[in-house]
Amino acid sequence: MPKNEKKERLLTLRKEAKKGGGETRIKNQHEKGKLTARERIEILADKGSFEELGAFVTHRSSAFGLGNQKILGDGVVTGFAKIEGRPVYLFSQDFTVFGGSLSETHAEKICKIMDLALKNGVPVIGLNDSGGARIQEGVSSLGGYAEVFWRNSMASGVVPQISAVMGPCAGGAVYSPALTDFIFMVKNTSYMFVTGPNVVKTVTHEEVTSEDLGGALAHGTKSGVAHFTTENDAECLRQIRRMMKYIPQNCEETVPVQPAREPEASKSSALDELVPLNPNKPYDIKDAIEGVMDAGSFFEVHELYADNIVVGFARLDGRTVGIVANQPLSLAGVLDIDASLKGARFVRFCDAFNIPLVVFEDVPGFLPGTDQEWGGIIKHGAKLLYAFCEATVPKMTVITRKAYGGAYDVMNSKHIRADYNVAWPTAEIAVMGTKGAVEIIFRKEIQKASDPEARQKELEDSYSEEFAHPYKAAARGFIDDVILPGETRVKLIQAFEICQNKVDTVPKKKHDNLPL
Ligand code: HXC
Repeated sequence: MPKNEKKERLLTLRKEAKKGGGETRIKNQHEKGKLTARERIEILADKGSFEELGAFVTHRSSAFGLGNQKILGDGVVTGFAKIEGRPVYLFSQDFTVFGGSLSETHAEKICKIMDLALKNGVPVIGLNDSGGARIQEGVSSLGGYAEVFWRNSMASGVVPQISAVMGPCAGGAVYSPALTDFIFMVKNTSYMFVTGPNVVKTVTHEEVTSEDLGGALAHGTKSGVAHFTTENDAECLRQIRRMMKYIPQNCEETVPVQPAREPEASKSSALDELVPLNPNKPYDIKDAIEGVMDAGSFFEVHELYADNIVVGFARLDGRTVGIVANQPLSLAGVLDIDASLKGARFVRFCDAFNIPLVVFEDVPGFLPGTDQEWGGIIKHGAKLLYAFCEATVPKMTVITRKAYGGAYDVMNSKHIRADYNVAWPTAEIAVMGTKGAVEIIFRKEIQKASDPEARQKELEDSYSEEFAHPYKAAARGFIDDVILPGETRVKLIQAFEICQNKVDTVPKKKHDNLPL
């Protein structure tokens, strides 16, 4: 074959690979409000940085007429690129090719980039848009999924793994994202379910739409499976780009550094007046976060789920930190099952990837009730406790108001090896709140009193005087200092500076046994 023809052949094949499942299916994809696999990569990656691997791969099946339906790439675009100048490996499933379904070769392409990512210490981003196992391939595609799942598990805690679910992901297509660190979903076009509405109707007789069963809002608010709920494909991809700026490339690296930015003056100057004197009056803990952290740096994770706890990334003096904060605006900031799970997962991610932790604490305790007890608040609360206990990154705690009971211990207390624990003057560090405590320990005395109400008030005042402040804890060294809210930023920056080379270890073990 003459040289020119050889070149022509390559260019033709390249063009063919770019067509995916063809014009009509691309049009259908656009009509559903979805971008194609390649359009998504263009938004996700730095301009011109994407290098494709395996564009000419085709499946090896012949069953059910597949033999004459070979499409270059086999329904997934794989390769490497840069995001904000830092390398990533990525795959983007092409719904226009057999509905993005996963064949043996499609799985091999994903596995190849995952192996490379692990070897080179580079994050993996998966853009999922798939009808699950390729039905015509039977068990071969199931094997392909298992190969991907195994790699997801091996890569966990070694390199960050980010999943975007950008279409109807069913069956096996949901379990790979579930094994990764963060899941982004798109409202109205992405679904995740183990079985879809038809199977649900047959088995449980429930009638439910795809959106209600497994849409972005269902998973963002109810199940907590989705960490981010976005409006459309472009926003989803931009959010992933933003997240990548906060996290290290792998478990050996330290956090990326950006230029430091002072918090907005109006936010930092409001800190001193932020916490109301009345302990039952709520305030927004995000005002505390924004008053202390670098301006505009707070990037909330799991915003719509368990909003009684707030988690997310921020920068302090230019360096990434992980924030875990009780939110008095929701359920008074109490810890329940969902909040414990949300907090624990985030703490473990941060610890795995050397992201220091800052806790803002205002917690009245664990939520009582049969729902919680029968739902397993004991084992789920234990996860949060465990996560803070095992974390060896620099750990700081700012007690803004209540630190009551078991929740005091759990929320990154000094006893579980936090490095720098401070309280604002409004802090109350005690076994429980004044009213509850007095009602328990002085019940008989109040009942017997000639004026029970007056006696109760008297006892509450004296309990408050005795316990509703930070100085008993400070006297024991359980907090390192009592500071003015306005001093928090500077003190935390100094504390992190001194902990920068922190070395802490856990005893040698095969692996831990986190209470599941
Ligand atoms: C092969 C598939 C496919 C699949 C879709 N297609 N899913 N091909 N294997 N799993 C093909 C369709 O035949 C169609 O081809 C094209 O993709 C688009 O599909 P539509 O149905 O037209 O699209 P839409 O109406 O948007 O519906 C999308 C869908 C639906 C919700 C994903 O296709 C669907 O329910 N698919 C099956 C889902 C499923 O049950 N998967 C197996 C799960 S079991 P043409 O040629 O017409 O364009 C599993 C086991 C792994 O994954 C378990 C591991 C733990």
